[in-house]
Amino acid sequence: MATKKQINHLKYALEPKSVAIVGASRTPNKIGHVLIKNLLDGGFSGKIYPVNPNAKEILGLKCYPNVTSIPKKVDLAVISIPARYVNKVLDECGRKGVKATVVITAGFAEVGNYKDAEQMKYIADKYDMALIGPNCMGILNPKLKFDSIFLPTYKLERPKVGRISFISQSGAVGGCLLDLIARAGVGISKFISYGNATVINETDLLEYLKDDDDTDLIACYIEGVKDGKRFLNIAKKITPNKPIIMLKSGKTDKGRAAAKSHTGTMAGSMTAYRAAFRQAHIIEAQGINDLYHFPKMFVQPFCTGKKVAVLTNGGGNGVMAADAIEKEGLELTEYSNKTKKELRKVLPSHGNVGNPLDILGDADSRRYEQALSILMEDDNVDAIIVIILFQTASIDSSVAEVIIKAMEQRKKPIIVVSTGGEYTNMHRRILDSSGVTTYRAPMTAVQALARFVEYNQYKQKITKKK
Ligand code: COA
Repeated sequence: MATKKQINHLKYALEPKSVAIVGASRTPNKIGHVLIKNLLDGGFSGKIYPVNPNAKEILGLKCYPNVTSIPKKVDLAVISIPARYVNKVLDECGRKGVKATVVITAGFAEVGNYKDAEQMKYIADKYDMALIGPNCMGILNPKLKFDSIFLPTYKLERPKVGRISFISQSGAVGGCLLDLIARAGVGISKFISYGNATVINETDLLEYLKDDDDTDLIACYIEGVKDGKRFLNIAKKITPNKPIIMLKSGKTDKGRAAAKSHTGTMAGSMTAYRAAFRQAHIIEAQGINDLYHFPKMFVQPFCTGKKVAVLTNGGGNGVMAADAIEKEGLELTEYSNKTKKELRKVLPSHGNVGNPLDILGDADSRRYEQALSILMEDDNVDAIIVIILFQTASIDSSVAEVIIKAMEQRKKPIIVVSTGGEYTNMHRRILDSSGVTTYRAPMTAVQALARFVEYNQYKQKITKKK
């Protein structure tokens, strides 16, 4: 657990103005080289100081033999040198007045090297240093174009600027997640991979993000929590204002053993975690996909109602959506008589006016537009799931404009489900990047909508209490 000062000093890690890369390497595929390249390519406007006693210059930047020889102030040091040298460098950072460090290096508690891990904590505490890691993948802050993730950008896409912050104990999970988020066109505020959590742990990060003006929602991958009581306390303070979505792994005996050797974490009992999640109104993610499927729902207009309309040009997908709605505790709504009458006027006579509303395989953009605008006016409809099979002959790209226009009115949640290959995914990306939430499968959309509605109901309840 970190001190209050260390938590405050996280601002130097997440919003640095000057960064030293200790272990900056001349060798292109080494982590210390990629770190410098990503900072430069990403367009970071702060100062970058490569540190390597064996090099004069790396990627056109002057190299320093150690941190103390850097003539100016350093906010953050990112450390990527073999474990045996790390604590000496951390002590130098402390003497230099560096307030935050990210230790990428592995080889501490996760391999039983508790002695160096303890020494690391001692040094960080001595200098009030916010130390993230060791055994982590770095930090990303797209708003500042600050990229200290050590994976090459041609292999891992970076997400655009947004208002969701991600914290991940695992660098690998975090990396995959970033890639998926970027592909889906979802924006992020901050991404933090925190590894062994020797000093800064998950609760410290939550505490910091609680007051971060650029963060509206926090999504986390954790293997364990170091201090359960404090975690619960902080989470309870956050969720009335910002949703927390959390994936906890290490659920089985074998999983717990794997977590211990991965990040040196005691994973604990899942029953206890679930109870804590319920108490703190944390939304539980079941897998990595939920960690971006659920957050992206939260851009939708506030909605506490459970009555869902399903609009589709494919019958089977509508049936799957109906099943999912039942299963997730939402309601397949009954339209008002006025709605039914108006729908009958605009839809072909060979179709049924029901819910799901199947506007048939020859539906075009115009038919979607008419049906959608009628459903949006019905008070019996709280949210609309629009299923679009882009594979039909009559559907073209203009259907995306119809949805975007309807979404811009921000009357009620409109969620698009489209299942398919590249043509479909291209349209999903257009929709996603225009602020429309899309999913690949009806079940995913409904699960995300159900969590969204449950959270909003909780929020409404506590707002009324105030
Ligand atoms: N200060 C500054 N630079 C130093 C240094 C010091 N004390 N000691 C060595 N260096 C330089 C080296 O000269 C080298 O530069 P060069 O390639 O130009 O010669 C560079 O720093 C890296 O040192 P090197 O000894 O080559 O280490 P490495 O790059 O092979 O390995 C790690 C370092 C950190 C990558 C490795 O120890 C490690 O921990 N790997 C696993 C990382 C991981 O998986 N983390 C978790 C991810 S989720």
